[in-house]
Amino acid sequence: MTNPPRTCLAVVLAAGQGQRMRSERPKVLHEIAGRSLVGHALAALTAAGVDRIAVVVGPDREDVAREARRIAPDARIFVQADRRGTAHAVLQARAELEQGADDVLVAFADTPLIEPATYRALRQALADGASVAALGFEASDPTGYGRFLIEGEALVGIVEHKDASFAQRAVRTCNAGLMALSGAHALDLLDAVGDDNAQREFYLTDVVAGAVARGLSARALLAPESEVMGVNDRVQLAAAEAVIQTRLREKAMREGATLIDPASVHLSWDTRLGRDVIVEPNVWFGPGVVVEDGAEIHASSWLEGARVRAGAGVGPFARLRPGADIGPKAKIGNFVEVKKAEIGAGAKVSHLSYIGDATVGAEANIGAGVVTCNYDGFLKYRTVIGEGAFVGTNSALVAPVTIGAGAFVGSGSVITHDVEADSLAVARGRQIARAGWARAFRARKQKEKGTAKR
Ligand code: UD1
Ligand code: CA
Repeated sequence: MTNPPRTCLAVVLAAGQGQRMRSERPKVLHEIAGRSLVGHALAALTAAGVDRIAVVVGPDREDVAREARRIAPDARIFVQADRRGTAHAVLQARAELEQGADDVLVAFADTPLIEPATYRALRQALADGASVAALGFEASDPTGYGRFLIEGEALVGIVEHKDASFAQRAVRTCNAGLMALSGAHALDLLDAVGDDNAQREFYLTDVVAGAVARGLSARALLAPESEVMGVNDRVQLAAAEAVIQTRLREKAMREGATLIDPASVHLSWDTRLGRDVIVEPNVWFGPGVVVEDGAEIHASSWLEGARVRAGAGVGPFARLRPGADIGPKAKIGNFVEVKKAEIGAGAKVSHLSYIGDATVGAEANIGAGVVTCNYDGFLKYRTVIGEGAFVGTNSALVAPVTIGAGAFVGSGSVITHDVEADSLAVARGRQIARAGWARAFRARKQKEKGTAKR
């Protein structure tokens, strides 16, 4: 017989002001790998299979609430009007706690690197009989952290740094802050917390001693320090970015992509690289990029919101902006920018072009310096280039305009009217030729110059 699945409520504390960021933005809206800190925490909880999420935000933080709802649409938002400690913050979600759940997970929005498996392990400790499970780590420098008080196998208390004795401060096993509480006891334990301590705060950590006093059991789980690190300033933000980049790069490589110089490749949380993709050094992936199998991203390219289909080549020095869709085996060369445009299979845009708001047919060839003139200062217009068309070097295509399939546009043309399929369009000044003109011109000018000097 299998047990029915346990239900879980996650309470995410996001009420920090984060003054040490020295920012107009609230701390939890700062980003790593292209996603907000609170977004990472909520996504990991969702991946860990929690049933309900409550987010506790500071007063007038509609921006944080909006971001939370964007990532977890069913999250309920609670406001902590004044900061009176982590237990006080959790209790702002009283309405959700009263509805009950088998497990209550408490997470910090400024601790973005916790893996779903770690949240699941905390819940497993409850399923195994603990009433409280706290996440800890061996701190390289424990200053400032709460210390785990462990007796034998059991966690018997957590003492905050400011309240710790000299002997307790020698303990290096520290509290990461995250906790799982048995739903049956969560409200009782939280309501029993007082503020008789150095900071006159209601400490979440006091639920451990509270549980032990009631004869309930508490357990400590340990995680690597790099996973539990919190972000309080921009130096820690960069450190968290480094950790998540390493994770994302290793995942991409394990899934079959070659990163020649991994440390120089910046990935976003959702970057998807297929098998046998090759990424050369100095490439930036903003959010929303998919690179299909066998495609190559050459050095120093920048991609965001783009799809690169199987076997295509991009760069070096290319920029794919949102809506760029590069077809199978197509080629986007150096100093080419593509935005909101589908480039057909096998098409080539090899040098120095801007292709925006456009469709380029399969096997079309777009010469160096071709520009789609898609904007008149007010609205955007589309350019459609048919299959197999050839657009000569340095042509301007003034949208809205259509170049028919198989058509040929002469170099240096400014195309303002549609071009029929399989026809030739040349729209430039006609070349004139005057034999001997240059020689005569030079002679005349040299004479003029000589006269002027005297
Ligand atoms: C907390 C832990 C400490 C642990 C450390 C890990 C407590 C009492 N202490 O300490 O044992 O080692 O985290 O980093 O839990 N928050 C609110 N409202 C409040 C207070 C805090 O929402 O009134 C949020 C903060 O925004 C933050 C989190 O709770 O996300 C932790 O609060 P913080 O003040 O940073 O706790 P620490 O003193 O660092
Ligand atoms: Ca902290």
